[in-house]
Amino acid sequence: MADKPIEAVVFDLDGVITDTAHFHYVAWKKLAEQLGITIDEAFNEQLKGVSRLDSLELILRKGKQKYEYTEMEKERMADEKNAHYCQLLTQLTPNDILPDIPELITSIKEEGIPIGLASVSKNATTVLRSLRLEGTFDYIADAARIKRSKPDPEIFLTACAGLGADPRHSIGIEDAAAGILAIKASGMFAVGVGPSLSGADYLVESTDRLRWDEIKSSYLMHTAINH
Ligand code: BG6
Ligand code: MG
Repeated sequence: MADKPIEAVVFDLDGVITDTAHFHYVAWKKLAEQLGITIDEAFNEQLKGVSRLDSLELILRKGKQKYEYTEMEKERMADEKNAHYCQLLTQLTPNDILPDIPELITSIKEEGIPIGLASVSKNATTVLRSLRLEGTFDYIADAARIKRSKPDPEIFLTACAGLGADPRHSIGIEDAAAGILAIKASGMFAVGVGPSLSGADYLVESTDRLRWDEIKSSYLMHTAINH
């Protein structure tokens, strides 16, 4: 089996490092209800990894209200959702880092592999600060560094470039369908976390199933077959 060194591991934030994905859902659900639109957890899967304004567009489309608001009204709705989300974020502490994520990060770092973050959130810095993870990542690609939301690969390519890593020799970890598409489009190896994801090269149900040795074996097997 050809032994390809792993050049970087890039983590999504919301839903992988911490369960802020749930806070996003709660805040969108409330806004949608005010508009007379019902969303459920299944619909919410489409919003994961998608930027704030794009998420609002998907909700309005679901409620057949796509053409009913001006850009300014939509900005106001997105601001309202964000204010609610930020209020929920004040509850966030280091205890909310998802199970086995610290151990995974430690194992990767012990091998001298740089780690990055790829989050389209404008609140990524706030979230990292609340979790006391500000200094953990060697490079952070967030909304300020990109033009296009996931599923576009831009954010993962930006993270790899910032880490000086070749995407083809790097691994991305995601909980969202849009995120898995972005990782695959960037040429990276995709690790999926979640019970209903598809398209990942390696999939686990929840973060407590993430084991660095198993991810590495799967990556090595994949590269041996595909290169
Ligand atoms: C992603 C989340 O990380 O960030 C999405 O998965 C969210 O649900 C997006 O819409 C944008 O986040 P924010 O914090 O800028 O509204
Ligand atoms: Mg996510």
